[in-house]
Amino acid sequence: MIKQAIIPLAGLGTRLLPLTSVIPKELLPINGRPGLEYILDEGIKAGIKEFIFIISNKKKGIKNYFYNDLFYKKIIKKKNKDKRLKQEYLKIKKYKKMIKFVYQNKPNGTGDAVLKCKNYIKTKFFLMLLPDDLIMQENCSLSMIRQHKKFRSSVIASRKVKKKDVSRWGIFKLKKINKKSFLIDDVIEKPSVLNAPSQQSVIGRYILPKKIFKVLEHQKAGQNGEVHITDAIRTLVKKNEKFTGYIFSGKYLDCGTMKGYINSSKKISSYNL
Ligand code: G1P
Repeated sequence: MIKQAIIPLAGLGTRLLPLTSVIPKELLPINGRPGLEYILDEGIKAGIKEFIFIISNKKKGIKNYFYNDLFYKKIIKKKNKDKRLKQEYLKIKKYKKMIKFVYQNKPNGTGDAVLKCKNYIKTKFFLMLLPDDLIMQENCSLSMIRQHKKFRSSVIASRKVKKKDVSRWGIFKLKKINKKSFLIDDVIEKPSVLNAPSQQSVIGRYILPKKIFKVLEHQKAGQNGEVHITDAIRTLVKKNEKFTGYIFSGKYLDCGTMKGYINSSKKISSYNL
């Protein structure tokens, strides 16, 4: 059973400056709610009971946001007819109960962030959600948990990207199983157009095996001097650990760049949520 999820949140968010000079990017509102709440709700609806947030000292605002229940309580005492405020209070309290915090104070990459959760993961597999990637109109995490049970494999979300864009993503080498699923033969972090084995990209939803912590302890830094989760996955695939890809049909929204963020707000407000 997959009941725990980790969310790396220590990134600096430089692609969203100047907004991120004072607000953590994951708290930026998308149609009136912090982007991070959409990610949490996806996890909760997929059966997740505990989230581990990897933050940094610079991003304590995230902890403050979810630990502000007393502040609401005080205001509600004065304005006890405010229904919306009460709902927000209950929502924050619910989230707070489910979240633990660990710290990654140096931006050493996603692999390094994952390793910080080593002592918290109790089961053989866990979910990781990257908050820059929103997937709407399908609960991708839930679909991936189903695929994990069906194939008894680790699972990574995927979508096809244009050839000219491959160097923005992790890219799979694969063997197709059916329209929605494939076996992962290899995965390369941000390859050049010439070196890309396919156009099938990694999107930020992963069901990873606990074994990955052992690999990460020895994983050398890769591109840009960072420890990439992609490289640790690659090591496991080479050791014949079963990884499958899941091609989701939900709508993908990239919230990590200014253009993507603006578009996400427009798109989400047009969906009937
Ligand atoms: C990360 C991963 C990359 C993946 C992407 C999905 O990259 O390293 O493999 O394709 O997330 O959003 P980043 O967005 O941190 O550059």
